[in-house]
Amino acid sequence: MAYANLIVETRDHVGLVKLNRPDALNALNQDLLTELGEALAKFDADDKIRCIVLTGSAKAFAAGADIKEMSDKTAPEMFKLDFFAEGCRAIERTRTPIIAAVAGYALGGGCELAMLCDFILAADTAKFGQPEINLGVIPGMGGTQRLTLAVGKAKAMEMCLSGRFMTAEEAERSGLVSRVIPADKLLDEALAVAAKIADKSPLATMAAKEAVNRAFETNLTEGVMFERRLFHGLFASEDQKEGMAAFIEKREPQFRGR
Ligand code: HXC
Repeated sequence: MAYANLIVETRDHVGLVKLNRPDALNALNQDLLTELGEALAKFDADDKIRCIVLTGSAKAFAAGADIKEMSDKTAPEMFKLDFFAEGCRAIERTRTPIIAAVAGYALGGGCELAMLCDFILAADTAKFGQPEINLGVIPGMGGTQRLTLAVGKAKAMEMCLSGRFMTAEEAERSGLVSRVIPADKLLDEALAVAAKIADKSPLATMAAKEAVNRAFETNLTEGVMFERRLFHGLFASEDQKEGMAAFIEKREPQFRGR
């Protein structure tokens, strides 16, 4: 299916979604978020797709929510639209792992979109920021919460209050991104990591994603119990039997998602 604001492809068991509003540095508007939700839901429903890569252009992952679309909105309109909430939920409810491959600007809603993914691989050109304060507003797609969880109060507060950008190097040092990669290798590396994830049991990767995410929602005792029960439950899968048998028999496992 063709999208107006996305380029969507598949590479074997990996789904690739490229944000595609080059004239607006991939600024996020309502149409783009609706399309993104549809594309992710399709991949999620497709048993062949076991990992997703979300990326932008060399200059911008996304430069934020579309300021031109938002500027004249009233508070009641924003409230009634529940602006961008459904788009965020569409990403949150995707059970297939999503890697954000970020080059260039990831600002405002762009930074928040990257943080809604499961982890971020950053090009050395990446710049992260929450510059909403310069527009007289604050982050509205979870930035004050997820940035604080990722980098701690001091850096999150400074970025949200002053609008300062973080380089890729600082973002890695601070725990916002998992790794920094030379810009010209970013997409290949993201696709290689995604292919590696796609090789695992999809039951186990979904369970791992749920369990890690639970760390943000609950206390340690509850989170550890949640993880333990998922771990026990995986012993009902053929993939667990296959994975452990393959190890013992010194061969590669063949995971079938059963
Ligand atoms: C609409 C945008 C845009 C945005 C860039 N453009 N960012 N349009 N919304 N967020 C458009 C510009 O208007 C311009 O269009 C074109 O993209 C190229 O941008 P330039 O500014 O000319 O490029 P450059 O000088 O290289 O500067 C890049 C930049 C700057 C530093 C990223 O564009 C910038 O500061 N953008 C805004 C970043 C921002 O404030 N983001 C937060 C948005 S609020 P024309 O037509 O003039 O060529 C937000 C809230 C999220 O995200 C919560 C929602 C619920």
